[in-house]
Amino acid sequence: MLEKKIKCPTCNNILTVNGNPGDTIIITCPNCDTKGKFSFKETGISSKETSIVPALEIYNVTKTFNGFKAVDNVSFSVRKGEIFGFLGPNGAGKTTTIKAILGLLHADSGRIRINGFDIKEDEIEAKRSIGYLPERVSFYDNLNPLQTLHFFCELQGVDKSVAMDLLKEVGLSDVIDRKVGGFSKGMQQLLGIAQTMIGDIPVYIFDEPMSGLDPRWVKIVRDMIIKLNERGATIMFSSHILSEVQNLCDRVVIINKGKIIAQDSVENLNRYLNIKPRIEILIPGLHGKIPGSIRKIKGILSLDIKEDKLIITCESTFRMNIITEIKNQGFDVKDIQTFEPTLEEAFIKIISRSEEMG
Ligand SMILES: Nc1ncnc2c1ncn2[C@@H]1O[C@H](COP(=O)(O)OP(=O)(O)OP(=O)(O)O)[C@@H](O)[C@H]1O
Ligand SMILES: [Mg+2]
Repeated sequence: MLEKKIKCPTCNNILTVNGNPGDTIIITCPNCDTKGKFSFKETGISSKETSIVPALEIYNVTKTFNGFKAVDNVSFSVRKGEIFGFLGPNGAGKTTTIKAILGLLHADSGRIRINGFDIKEDEIEAKRSIGYLPERVSFYDNLNPLQTLHFFCELQGVDKSVAMDLLKEVGLSDVIDRKVGGFSKGMQQLLGIAQTMIGDIPVYIFDEPMSGLDPRWVKIVRDMIIKLNERGATIMFSSHILSEVQNLCDRVVIINKGKIIAQDSVENLNRYLNIKPRIEILIPGLHGKIPGSIRKIKGILSLDIKEDKLIITCESTFRMNIITEIKNQGFDVKDIQTFEPTLEEAFIKIISRSEEMG
């Protein structure tokens, strides 16, 4: 359990809150009744130092299918120790890039290094350095999950005793007598995660590891990614669940129509795109009209109204002054909610910009 001290943005009252890593809690200030949300960072993510030494290097990779460029001159690198998000709309080229990195399909051109090993010149070492969870996992239908993991332990020369613990960790220990062929998509996905945990592999690529999983199982996958990373592994994963990417990833790369269109940390992407925090203030009686005196308040960048709710964007540093000024003007502020910029907003803005530019 973590303990944090938070300053109320309205009245500066200091509140003490408790929670576990990854928890998001709703807080109401006992002094002024302001409501807000606070997220406890996942352990090991916020304070982690990543190395500038690359675990994955992708240079000018192009892959064409019958004249169609699915991946077009793509370059990026993933630093050792990072959790790295690979984002893009459906059909953008993520799986094709991932398969090219793994040597599962041959790129037309470009160079790829895994953990310093070139996938063509040092193929065996490169492949030994990487663990992979495909978009669609498949196992032998007639084996149960324990037999399946034993099989992979044998392949990798790892003691089979780890198998049962891994099944417990992914929540499959109560179905060890069932055949994997009868598993649901989510159960197969979790078995895939357990399989990738076998052995001590420095670099992992997961292609949509959370897709089709219910929230409880998403949490299991998230915890496994954190655990692997704490063990020292570098992880790159593709996902459409942007909140997970935002919480887990040190940096992200965004691909659209086969081309990389952005590569940075979530914070920097928001900064470059000029996405500002938003405050929503409930003032009963406004009925869709913005009072002139509020329009004049310093620091407001944009102002909108939905019935009795004012929607304001501003720099974080002006947030307190704006709220105080509205109260000083005599408005009956009933509720305040603050929204930090999200990866989803950045993603939508970047994709639509790249579409506009053709
Ligand atoms: N074997 C193939 N033959 C022909 N076209 C292909 C092949 N594999 C992929 N493509 C095409 O390449 C493009 C990129 O596909 P890819 O599977 O890499 O997208 P993605 O970003 O992984 O999408 P999603 O988010 O839906 O998984 C798509 O237009 C797809 O139809
Ligand atoms: Mg894909």
